[in-house]
Amino acid sequence: MAVVIAVPGNEDQAAQVASKLGAGVVKVEVRQFPDGEIYVRVDGDVRGHDVALVGSLYPNPAERFLTITFLAQTARDLGARKVGLVAPYLAFMRQDNVFNPGEGVTSKYFAQLVSSTVDWLVTVDPHLHRHSSLEGLYTIPTTIARSAPAIAKWISSEVQHPILVGPDAESVQWVSAVADSCGAPFIILEKTRRGDRDVEISGPPGHLKLNGHTPVLIDDIVSTGKTLIEATRRLRAAGSAAPMCVAIHAVFADAVLDDLKSAGAAGIVTCDTIVHASNKIEVCESIAEAARPYLGD
Ligand code: R5P
Repeated sequence: MAVVIAVPGNEDQAAQVASKLGAGVVKVEVRQFPDGEIYVRVDGDVRGHDVALVGSLYPNPAERFLTITFLAQTARDLGARKVGLVAPYLAFMRQDNVFNPGEGVTSKYFAQLVSSTVDWLVTVDPHLHRHSSLEGLYTIPTTIARSAPAIAKWISSEVQHPILVGPDAESVQWVSAVADSCGAPFIILEKTRRGDRDVEISGPPGHLKLNGHTPVLIDDIVSTGKTLIEATRRLRAAGSAAPMCVAIHAVFADAVLDDLKSAGAAGIVTCDTIVHASNKIEVCESIAEAARPYLGD
């Protein structure tokens, strides 16, 4: 039988995925020792079972990864057959190049660590930009669950005559997939990033002709929010109606909501890959489908 273990903080999502998979749920105890070290205990039978650890790598990605490593190794020592990781949000993907002399490509180093920790990986729409696939990074089997069907369903039911807008070149992969699923047109803007909180968005040239369509800005990650804020400003300056913003991964490293509203957005909704108040779009169906082939009967 397949067994699901929730990384602390991901209990709801783990329960949803387990229910879709018809898998059992085994509880764990995770806490910190007084000196900050991590204690883990698996509170159930995993012997002979395929185990899926379910947990996003946010917040505190480094600490979470160590917890996942300890849980995976403990499950193995307790006789688990194979141990995989379902990380709806995969961290450490954005440093995918040497941008300045002396830097490391940490997305590659992290992939090596994950590959030596678990037998397989499922994640939702990882930030693939300069890496074209997970296969080139990870040495274990990987599967990407797609959020596009769930996002398209939400847009179709909540937005009248949508036109989808990607804020930068790399967003075309997510925006075009959603556009295909909901049959909406899309445009892509241009972004120049000068620093963590310094981005400029340009295009489309001239006055936007939306012909009564409602703009929906779509990005994979909302972190500082600057990308969506500046893209909203750009759209409004070009004569657009208030855009609805949709993000896959609700990182929200900064308080974004007030600035997004002041910039002229209608609001923001996110997928539930990271637990956040803006979560409105469930992706557990795609996650379960992606994980199913790794889990024996
Ligand atoms: C960038 O390459 C990503 O696709 C997102 O646009 C980016 O991570 C958003 O970050 P922020 O919210 O900090 O602008």
